[in-house]
Amino acid sequence: MTPLTAHPSPRFGGETDLPGDKSISHRALILAALASGTSRITGLLDSDDVRATENAVKAFGAHVERDVDGVVHVTGRDWTSPAEPIDCGNSGTSARLLMGAAAGFEGLAASFTGDDSLSSRPMERITQPLRRMGASFEGGDTLPLDLIGARLGGIDFASPVASAQVKSAILLAGLRTQAPVRIVEPRPSRDHTEIMLAQFGVEGGVEEVEEGIAISLGEQRALSATDLSIPGDPSSAAFLWAAAAMIPGAKVTTRGVLVNGTRTGFIEKLEEMGAAVSLDNHVLRSGEPVGDVTVAHDRLEPVHVTPDEVPSMIDEIPMLACVAAMADGESLFEGIGELRVKESDRIGAVAAGLTANGVTAFATEDSLRIIGKGEVMGGRMVSTRHDHRIAMAFLTLGLAAKGAITVDNAEPIATSFPDFTALVRSLGGGISTR
Ligand code: S3P
Repeated sequence: MTPLTAHPSPRFGGETDLPGDKSISHRALILAALASGTSRITGLLDSDDVRATENAVKAFGAHVERDVDGVVHVTGRDWTSPAEPIDCGNSGTSARLLMGAAAGFEGLAASFTGDDSLSSRPMERITQPLRRMGASFEGGDTLPLDLIGARLGGIDFASPVASAQVKSAILLAGLRTQAPVRIVEPRPSRDHTEIMLAQFGVEGGVEEVEEGIAISLGEQRALSATDLSIPGDPSSAAFLWAAAAMIPGAKVTTRGVLVNGTRTGFIEKLEEMGAAVSLDNHVLRSGEPVGDVTVAHDRLEPVHVTPDEVPSMIDEIPMLACVAAMADGESLFEGIGELRVKESDRIGAVAAGLTANGVTAFATEDSLRIIGKGEVMGGRMVSTRHDHRIAMAFLTLGLAAKGAITVDNAEPIATSFPDFTALVRSLGGGISTR
């Protein structure tokens, strides 16, 4: 356990680049490992979660090499049984996407394991549709699980949750069959798999239907190697934007950050709450919209998040809840039940951390109500429950609160944003080990 303390930082601000997007980094490695030829990936995130995916695709037989400039070269091939279990660490994206990608290799046998947190997260949401397609799994609803790949059939799957991990697992499995593959989500989740599949030459379709949004694979499903550039991660930028929004006089510019509409819920809410937000140098990179985002402080109003809005800010809700605590008035987050099955029970973790620091917060099974007072007392310890985003959200709140906030364990930050502390310090944020 490595505690860290964030101190009130009235001079926070500046300009920065960002580490690569985590979701897109996982997909780049997996799709390149399935493609024929060698793909070149620039800006790949170097974090524990992405390393788990990199080790996995190597174990399945792909060749991965880094050159001196940090460009990653991946040569794909038909996946074969790995010699050892695939250790997904803390990473749900690794586990769910890799199981989908491996499911269509006939006779491939692989065990999937993870840490305590990942081993308590639901896997039935992907094993159920993958079994329907023809794959076999031994084990229960959680890791460890043993997969045996098979010649797959098609599927028309109505997903009960808006989950990009579920959608992606099915699409990746579907690459190994020519049968019709279609997923209907109740609400649109992040669409990086669909965008990246097109970069690798795979055809697909998207249409709005009565039940939500339908995503399907077309005829052309063979992947050809390509070059990819990974944009900055908006889920990491969110902490810097939040600090800028909360600290009087602060202004931060993050260069080259992903602004895909399936991920922009948090920044849109900050603007709605009163922060000054601007977007410059908007371009398309490897099929994804990217730009420079600037956030500056202003007086913050409370926020209302509705169930339809949740998927576009799913990983940012802990941070948004902390920002809401700094607003003046009552904020409400509805339809956030999925947060109970993330790296920790994030509704419980946020409510407990805010309450400890003098904020009135009420949680139900799938909602959170926060009574903001325009300031947060701070001064107390927060249990991060081994969750990177809980650690970073409360450290960020500590930069703006009246008293310092300590998190009991900062180690999980390495799963997604190893440079967090250094970057916050470079912008004038006070973070210390005691
Ligand atoms: C992710 C999808 C989201 C998100 C996770 C990353 C992805 O999970 O919370 O951090 O890369 O596909 P769900 O798809 O389960 O909502």
